[in-house]
Amino acid sequence: MSYPKIAGLKTASAFRSHTDALGIALPLDDTVETGPDAPLARPLEAGGRRIGNRFCILPMEGWDGETDGRPTDLTRRRWRRFGESGAKLIWGGEAVAVRHDGRANPNQLMLNADTLSEIASLREDLVAAHAERFGDTDDLLVGLQLTHSGRFSRPNEKKRWEPRVAYRHPLLDPRVGVVDDGPVLSDDQLDRLVDDFVVAAKLSADAGYAFVDVKQCHGYLGHELLSGFDRPGRYGGSFENRTRFFRDIAAGIRAEAPGLEIGVRLSVFDFSPYRPGEEGVGAAEQSVEYRYAFGGDGTGVGFDLEEPSRYLTLLQEHGVRMVCTTVGSPYYNPHIQRPASFPPSDGYLPPEDPLVGVARQIDATRRLKRDHPGLLLVGSGYTYLQEWLPNVAQHVVREGWVDSIGLGRMVLSYPELPADVLAGRKLVRKLICRTFSECTSAPRNGMISGCFPLDQFYRDRPERELLARALGKGAADPAQ
Ligand SMILES: Cc1cc2nc3c(=O)[nH]c(=O)nc-3n(C[C@H](O)[C@H](O)[C@H](O)COP(=O)(O)O)c2cc1C
Ligand code: SF4
Repeated sequence: MSYPKIAGLKTASAFRSHTDALGIALPLDDTVETGPDAPLARPLEAGGRRIGNRFCILPMEGWDGETDGRPTDLTRRRWRRFGESGAKLIWGGEAVAVRHDGRANPNQLMLNADTLSEIASLREDLVAAHAERFGDTDDLLVGLQLTHSGRFSRPNEKKRWEPRVAYRHPLLDPRVGVVDDGPVLSDDQLDRLVDDFVVAAKLSADAGYAFVDVKQCHGYLGHELLSGFDRPGRYGGSFENRTRFFRDIAAGIRAEAPGLEIGVRLSVFDFSPYRPGEEGVGAAEQSVEYRYAFGGDGTGVGFDLEEPSRYLTLLQEHGVRMVCTTVGSPYYNPHIQRPASFPPSDGYLPPEDPLVGVARQIDATRRLKRDHPGLLLVGSGYTYLQEWLPNVAQHVVREGWVDSIGLGRMVLSYPELPADVLAGRKLVRKLICRTFSECTSAPRNGMISGCFPLDQFYRDRPERELLARALGKGAADPAQ
């Protein structure tokens, strides 16, 4: 199955005809405005802090830290480029584990007393890079994403799962080698983990971060607990119990680091796990009566935002002013999470035009924003829009569907896209991410992440050839 290439949709009306044919709402503006009053240039405010424009850099890890959790030069380069992007909101930089057993890979950053100064210097490097390029940093807001990887923990060996799960899951357990209740975290163990999050949040404040993101997305522990409908005890079953983990962390942060803002990156809906079906095209493992999706409609392939919306109300009651919306998980349903033309090596061919996935995320965020106008919402999943990203972004911001446009893969290949858009410069076509997924496939094959096809720095690295070999093909041709 193949879908029309975005680069082939040469005009806004060609783009519109295509989305009309797909039957999806993905409106866009014909032209992108510039100047201080342009929709994407207007400032925002959160907790008394000014955010200078409507672009946000989403967290993206590089599987490139030291084994003791400190950043390397590769990590520093990525963060500096985030600073040079021109975006005024940095949502967490990348996932940082609050303790060793919760690391998604042996090279994930980890925050503790030993790594504090280096995690602090990452922020300083980013702010310095931003200052060099743009001068003003008073309107730049930088947070740190805190996580425990739960089911998807691999703290010691790149290829060995060491899962810590919220509950037994009939479809996901076999994928990560859960065969008995051993990996299920007890209530007491979760109590201790709450304390670890609070300690890490306090360290984040000491390191100068304006906010922490208590990560609850992508199938990691904070997200999985929200769907622990069958879990017994204090952390499972009722809405109150499933949200206890966050509530206790928030209360601890308020007590220990009162000036620190709390943000939440939330998978606002989830689907069933997918796997390659006929001719490698993704198929839902369960498409009726799937009961493990937070924000799911019970089918495994649809969403119902009633409970996620209730959760946003709860977050607001606990002082959260900013939420970054995302969906699903890159491990078991990547096509809804990061729509792409080319699947990651452990994925499957797209079962729908990737624009459908983009529109689904935009639509869910629009509905949540409508019901929570006072919450600052950052959206995700825009990269697949490629040339049309600025036009769609301007439209959805202008219409108030979302407050800030989160950028993921696009800034790995083209970090200065926000600055170029805001200045009215023509986009640099050869840098536009074409969703080759190599930044995901490389770590799936035990390597560092990076934009191997389009970023000259990674094109020149030996991993590019190794990756091409692992994928059984020549290195991706950016002209494709
Ligand atoms: C290489 C890579 C690393 C990522 N790391 C993180 C991460 O550390 N934390 C997180 O919340 N999301 C992570 N993501 C997901 C992105 O933040 C984003 O949600 C996703 O790429 C979809 O946005 P996009 O379409 O702009 O790429 C990662 C994505 C990629 C491609
Ligand atoms: S490797 Fe580069 S082009 Fe491919 S998806 Fe990642 S950022 Fe985009």
